[in-house]
Amino acid sequence: MKIQKICCIGAGYVGGPTMAVIAKQCPDITVTVVDINEARIAAWNDENVDNIPVYEPGLSAVVAEARGRNLFFSTDVDKAIDEAEMIFISVNTPTKTYGEGKGQAADLKWIELCARQIARVAQGDKIVVEKSTLPVRTASTLKDILTHTGNGLNFQILSNPEFLAEGTAVDDLMNPDRVLIGGDQTEEGKNAIEALVNVYARWVPKDRILTTNVWSSELSKLTANAYLAQRVSSINSLSELCEHTEADVNEVARAIGTDSRIGPKFLKASVGFGGSCFQKDILNLVYISRTYGLHEVADYWEQVIIMNDHQKRRFAKKIIRNLYNTVSGKKIAFLGWAFKKDTNDTRESAAIYVADHLLNEQSKIAVYDPKVTEKQIFSDLDYLGSRSPEENRKQLQAEKDPYKVCKGSHAVAVLTEWDEFKSYDWQKIYDSMLKPAHIFDGRNLLDKEALKAIGFQVHAIGSTN
Ligand code: NAD
Ligand code: UGA
Repeated sequence: MKIQKICCIGAGYVGGPTMAVIAKQCPDITVTVVDINEARIAAWNDENVDNIPVYEPGLSAVVAEARGRNLFFSTDVDKAIDEAEMIFISVNTPTKTYGEGKGQAADLKWIELCARQIARVAQGDKIVVEKSTLPVRTASTLKDILTHTGNGLNFQILSNPEFLAEGTAVDDLMNPDRVLIGGDQTEEGKNAIEALVNVYARWVPKDRILTTNVWSSELSKLTANAYLAQRVSSINSLSELCEHTEADVNEVARAIGTDSRIGPKFLKASVGFGGSCFQKDILNLVYISRTYGLHEVADYWEQVIIMNDHQKRRFAKKIIRNLYNTVSGKKIAFLGWAFKKDTNDTRESAAIYVADHLLNEQSKIAVYDPKVTEKQIFSDLDYLGSRSPEENRKQLQAEKDPYKVCKGSHAVAVLTEWDEFKSYDWQKIYDSMLKPAHIFDGRNLLDKEALKAIGFQVHAIGSTN
């Protein structure tokens, strides 16, 4: 079966870039991305392609090439479902904030709404593709809803999890390590798998397109994120030991990373991992394991989150300890708010939790991030509910100028590894700060020796001075 029309429900960080790249690589396939969020769709359609709602290096150019040709963004969900032979579901699947499984299970209400909408609207057979990250066995829920409420049509459910990382989404999509497609092992299931394989095969070498049964595919996505996050928590746990033993975590990471069985990636000690998925997906894995009564398995993975929370708290406490055990009324300059460089995404960013801890100690905070808006910063803090929105605005300010943010501060804290921080005039920053001037480098980004030569007191992650 040759796919001619694709619909994607959800125009977020995954749906937008993924569909833009499919449209770019397959000019003969019409790709329509739909969303209930009108503002988001309007932004994707903005005449000025630099105003699209997701900042990713190279993404504007991809959208500019395909938009209006075979890539469309719309709020007319029914129409797009009706017309497409293949429907990707790429809606949010956050951690539940209520009821059974609160704080751990994935909230699947948006997924279910999509399934019910597809069942209501569809007039012909459809291939429904899980692009969102989902608990293992969700495909059976989708199948159940579609077959019981659909119009007697044939629905094939595929799992095609997305492995892109933010900040490198376009590169990851253009040149993925692998594409994973899981489906039923029946004749129809295999045909559906082949239809999707043929879409990716336009630009992804066949040996990088892995096909599995649907459950393996669903579980592999949670597993991949759990393994990646586990590496970060492992190196972060050792960063604390390094700080007590004069070992240097960067040297340890290099030493173990050259072992080809371990490999050098994801060994960068930091203030803690953030992002919308690592925590959510591990919590989900923990919840699923507990549901099956597998308590040792659950406890094992939960430790990755416990360690990450500890690392964020430890960073905030280190700032307080070095500022003579009080930050009350003191100005701390934050460089970075996004959860990693080259993205405007702040979901679960370590910066939010470090700020919250310091604000509880009555510090003042000034924030500069090259891509994050003031509105987003306040929305992140207000969401925590630790203090009133007015208090947050009294204690924290966001600025467009990094030098202004650092001026008059007791300490600078680097929360995101933006490249531009490295090329700042650090002498000028030092001159404008209160003394002793501290730098807490939560990313081991800056040149420690050069900063020390200027006169800064430098506190890195995982090494002593
Ligand atoms: P997002 O919140 O940026 O986007 C989801 C979009 O879906 C929103 O715009 C929302 O309005 C829309 N939506 C929700 N319900 C809808 C409905 N019924 N009809 C139409 N639109 C609806 O989320 P995201 O970051 O793109 O993540 C989507 C999924 O992909 C999640 O399951 C996530 O775990 C997974 N994932 C994310 C990343 C990432 O880097 N962000 C990477 C891999 C996988
Ligand atoms: C991650 C995975 O890398 C993707 O494969 C996956 O598709 C995605 O989650 C998802 O499912 O959402 P992402 O969260 O965008 O991608 O970014 P990462 O590069 O994985 O970084 C996650 C966090 O870990 C960031 O806060 C980053 O700063 C931190 N990190 C990463 C470290 O602290 N040290 C490292 O060595 C690597």
